[in-house]
Amino acid sequence: MTETKDLEWNSNFAFMMAMIGSAVGLGNIWRFPNILYSNGGGSFMIPYIVSLFLLGISFVLVEYAVGYKFKRSLARILFSMSKKLEPVAWFILFIVFLIATYYVCVVGWDLIYIFLSFTKAWGANPDVFFTQNVLQATDSMSGLFTIVPTVLASVIAIWFISWFIIKRDLNDGIGNVSKVLIPLLFVIVIIIVAFSLTLPGASVGYTQIFTPDWSALTNLDVWLAAFGQIVFSLSLGMAIAMTYASYLPEGSKLVDNAIIVAFSNSGFEVFNSIGTFSILGFMTVTSGIPFNELVTSGTGLAFVVFPQVFNTMGPAAYVIAPLFFICILFAGITSLIALLEGFCYSISEKFLIERKKTATAVCIIGCLVSTIFATGAGSTILGVFDAYLNNFALLFAILLECIIFGWIYKFDDLIEVLNEHSTIKVGKTWKAVIKYILPICIAGLWIQGILSTIATIDSLSSTIMIILTIILIVCPIIFAKLPALNPDYYNV
Ligand code: PFF
Repeated sequence: MTETKDLEWNSNFAFMMAMIGSAVGLGNIWRFPNILYSNGGGSFMIPYIVSLFLLGISFVLVEYAVGYKFKRSLARILFSMSKKLEPVAWFILFIVFLIATYYVCVVGWDLIYIFLSFTKAWGANPDVFFTQNVLQATDSMSGLFTIVPTVLASVIAIWFISWFIIKRDLNDGIGNVSKVLIPLLFVIVIIIVAFSLTLPGASVGYTQIFTPDWSALTNLDVWLAAFGQIVFSLSLGMAIAMTYASYLPEGSKLVDNAIIVAFSNSGFEVFNSIGTFSILGFMTVTSGIPFNELVTSGTGLAFVVFPQVFNTMGPAAYVIAPLFFICILFAGITSLIALLEGFCYSISEKFLIERKKTATAVCIIGCLVSTIFATGAGSTILGVFDAYLNNFALLFAILLECIIFGWIYKFDDLIEVLNEHSTIKVGKTWKAVIKYILPICIAGLWIQGILSTIATIDSLSSTIMIILTIILIVCPIIFAKLPALNPDYYNV
C-alpha cells in the first residue's frame, strides 16, 4: 500500500457501495427495532432524523473532507498535523481493531445459524439451544479454557473470508464484493419485508412503529438514544469514511455522496424494521406472547426470538430463515472489511508493508484474539468488550476527533474542500455543530454510558476493562514510537 493508483476507487458506485456496506451492519438489523420501540415508536423518528442531519451527516462530512484532502492513512494524517497526535490515531485504530475481533465472532454465530436454519435444527427451545448447544456458555470464567469447536471453526471461517477480501486490490476486493453484496442484501430485505407483511398479525406489529408517543420527545434519554443509534449505525469515528474517502479520485462529489450514504443506511434500517415488527406481530398473534416481551435486541432477537418465530411459521420458514441469516452475514461481512481496512492502511503506510502481507498479519493476530470469544466464557467476555469499546472508548475517540478537527486543525480548510467538491454547500452552521454541539452530545452519551456501566459492573467486567484500557494505552504508544519504514511518512 504505497502511494500508487491501486488505492483509488474505479467508480463512484464502488465507493458508495463500500460506504453503505460499512454502515449497514448488525446494528441496523437488530439494534434499531428495539431502540425505536423502547423510545417512543413513531415519535422517535423526530430525534432520529434530527440526529442524522445535525450530527451524523456532519461528522461523516468531517471524515470525508479530511480523508479526501490528505489522501493518507489516519496515522499519517494525524502525524502530519502534529507528531504528538499520532498516538491518538493508533488509539482509534486499536479500538476499531478490537471491535472487529468480537464482531467477527457474532458474524460467526450467524454463519452457524445459516446452516441450522435449513432444518430448523435449533428445535423447540431456541433459547436453551443458543446458550447451551451453540455457545456452550459457562456461568463463570472456568469456561475460558474450553474451546467451543463449532464457534472456533466459524470464527476462523469469517476471518478467512475477510482476509480473502481485504488482501486483494481495493477494487478487486472491497469494491467488487460490496458492489455484489449490498444490492443483494437490499433485494433479500425487500423479499423478507414483503413476505412479513403478508403474515397474519403483521399489522399488530408494524402499527407500533407508526404509533407515536409524543411525551417521549421531552425525555433527554430518548434524544441520546437516537444519537447513539446514529453513531453506531453510521460507524462514526472509526476512520472508515476517512479511509474510504481518501481513495476517491479527483472530482468526486463529497457532500452529495455523504447524504446518499446516510439516507441509504437509515432507509435500510427503517424499512427493515417494518419487516421485523410485522414478524413479531405475527408471533404475538399466534403465540399470545405480549409484543413488548418479543422486542429484544442483539443476539436475543436474532438467535432466540427469530428462531422461535420460524418455528411457528410453517414451511415458508425454510426459505425465509436462511434468507434472514444470509442477510445478517452480508451486512456483517461488508462492515467487517471496513473495520479492518483503516487499520491495515495505517500499518502498511507507516511500515511500508504491502497490502497482502499486512492483511495476512492483521487477520492472523485478529483471529488469535477472537479465540477468546470461542471459549465457554466467550459470550460473557464479548458483552464486556462491546459495552466498553462502544459506550466508552469509541465515544471518547469521537470526542478527540471533534477537538482535533474542530479546534486544532484549520477548520475553514475543510469547508473549502467540501464546497469545492459538492453541489450542496456547507458553512458556518456545520462548523458550529462540529465545534460545540457534537462534542456536547457525545459527552452526554459518554457520561450516560459510564453511569450505566458503573451501575452494572462486576469484578470480572472491571478486570477485562482494565486490561482493555492498558492495551489501548500501551499499543498506540508503541506503534507511534516505532520508526516509520516509509520515508514518505515523514513528508508532512
Ligand atoms: N455500522 C455497522 C453496524 O451497525 O453494525 C458497523 C459497526 C458499528 C460495527 C459499530 C461495529 C460497531 F461497534
